[in-house]
Amino acid sequence: MSATGDGRGDGAPVLEVRDLHVSFSGRQGLGAGLLGRSATTARAVDGVDLEVARGEIVALAGESGCGKTTLARAIMGLVKPASGEIRYAGRPLRHRDLREFRRKVQMVFQDPTGALNPRQTIYESVAEGLRIHKVPGEEDVLVSKALADAGLRPPERFFLLYPHEVSGGQRQRVVIAGALALEPEMIVADEPVSNLDASVRGEILALLLKLRDRFGLSLLIVTHDLGLAWTVADRVAVMYLGRIVEVGPAEDVLTRPLHPYTKALLQVVPEAGGDLSGRSILAGEPPDPTRIPPGCRFHPRCPEVQSGRAAELGMEERNRTEVPLLREIRPAHFVACHLA
Ligand SMILES: Nc1ncnc2c1ncn2[C@@H]1O[C@H](COP(=O)(O)OP(=O)(O)O)[C@@H](O)[C@H]1O
Ligand SMILES: [Mg+2]
Repeated sequence: MSATGDGRGDGAPVLEVRDLHVSFSGRQGLGAGLLGRSATTARAVDGVDLEVARGEIVALAGESGCGKTTLARAIMGLVKPASGEIRYAGRPLRHRDLREFRRKVQMVFQDPTGALNPRQTIYESVAEGLRIHKVPGEEDVLVSKALADAGLRPPERFFLLYPHEVSGGQRQRVVIAGALALEPEMIVADEPVSNLDASVRGEILALLLKLRDRFGLSLLIVTHDLGLAWTVADRVAVMYLGRIVEVGPAEDVLTRPLHPYTKALLQVVPEAGGDLSGRSILAGEPPDPTRIPPGCRFHPRCPEVQSGRAAELGMEERNRTEVPLLREIRPAHFVACHLA
């Protein structure tokens, strides 16, 4: 798979995810006691292939519950995959490298308030990572620089403030400063603006873009908002029920989508303001990772199946039995659909 869509970055993948699987085992909900409490397994990430090049911004988009956060956490080593491989800078990520990796790859979470200790000053929060990783240099100089790089200027003005004394957007900047202090090569940001006021979302996104341009950072931005993907990403990967179903250059995927699921997502975007959270956009059962349909996992909800087009093409049987793999249909634009 070619790493970049539009020539951003140098093309060498910095992060490669290969056939990654992450499962959670649990108990069936209501009534399970009566039926003997059968254990269930949620295949939250179910065979993901993805790569991010140096200096590239990739948006990972899909409805709530499709496995975006689990994939991000697995990449960060925060949840153990059942199988598959994660390679960083060409080398498999092993447990003993995790410490070094945790410095090079920083995660920014959705909720900046939860990510910051309310009893710690902003200075202490940003300095914490420096201390954990024993970064050499004068701590206050490094903290100042990180805050300024995150757009908090003059930085000294923020040193002694507590998280509740600054705005939500500024709190996310503090979190980003904490990441930047470690001079990362990559940031994995899980819905970095979805808890912020609409008015500051654009500023934080502009900051992330600027960091890529200034430091050559790679960014994987998880989002349920295709409008956001459009604004910042070089490439977009669309996830459905634990798998990437379409990936390619952002403009190509968003203006000429190939997967019926991506098409459906894009149809709801104008009314929904780009927000896919908490609403089912298609007919049929909402996706459930404990009961993944065989064949194409999207087929029970696929408009192409419902309209009869899949049958016309003689693809109904294949849709029900054979898992579609990503195929390159246009340059660097891949789709996992038997009908494409
Ligand atoms: N720690 C966990 N234990 C059990 N199930 C989980 C856990 N984390 C996520 N899941 C399940 O995995 C699926 C994917 O969740 P998640 O990765 O949070 O999706 P997204 O970030 O796309 O909304 C969901 O069905 C969710 O309920
Ligand atoms: Mg999530």
